[in-house]
Amino acid sequence: MTQDPSGTMMFKLVLIGDGAVGKTSVRRKYLGKGFISSHIATIGVDFAQKYMQVDGTTVRLVIWDLAGQTGFERVRRHYYQGCSALVLVYDITNRESFDNMSRWLVESFKYAGEIPPTAILANKVDLRTSNDSSKFVLPEEGQAFAKMFTEKLGIPSVFFETSAKNGENIQESFSTLTRMMIAEDIKRRGKK
Ligand code: GTP
Repeated sequence: MTQDPSGTMMFKLVLIGDGAVGKTSVRRKYLGKGFISSHIATIGVDFAQKYMQVDGTTVRLVIWDLAGQTGFERVRRHYYQGCSALVLVYDITNRESFDNMSRWLVESFKYAGEIPPTAILANKVDLRTSNDSSKFVLPEEGQAFAKMFTEKLGIPSVFFETSAKNGENIQESFSTLTRMMIAEDIKRRGKK
């Protein structure tokens, strides 16, 4: 956490995950912008910010949206440093994007030097038409990953199934993550 010139708490969040899982769409929905049904791949990085109120405190979130394609790692690596939280997104209709989550955490650790509090978002939940695990990643699988992540690495994490299309759990994800960042910041400052 840093403070902006007005003294407002400022947190840097980084959105990561495979290409086309919906990172840009999640960010747009969170910012109250419309849903775009075509996929315009992020080139390198994109950036946005938002002020939000959490439990009576105003915070400024600076949200970096990193391109998911593997070829952009050289660009992405510069943006991990100093981040207060990760938003790790996978697509419930694309099992490979779920299987690749560990790869994204390894990349974050490599370039940020640590893994901050993380929100794991199982996106495109509006597309689930059955509980067939050969077609869709099931919520219990995402939950189990988040639990293992927190228990094995001791890193606070939260899991939500989201839809950037209809807005399901988008605000809740960012509010919960912001509370976690504030708690982590208080804990760290207490240790100094
Ligand atoms: P990169 O920039 O390539 O890393 O992609 P991205 O992860 O930012 O994905 P993006 O937001 O561009 O979305 C990819 C495609 O998925 C687009 O066609 C979106 O309209 C679609 N999409 C994103 N989120 C959802 C969702 O929650 N539900 C549905 N049905 N489609 C979604």
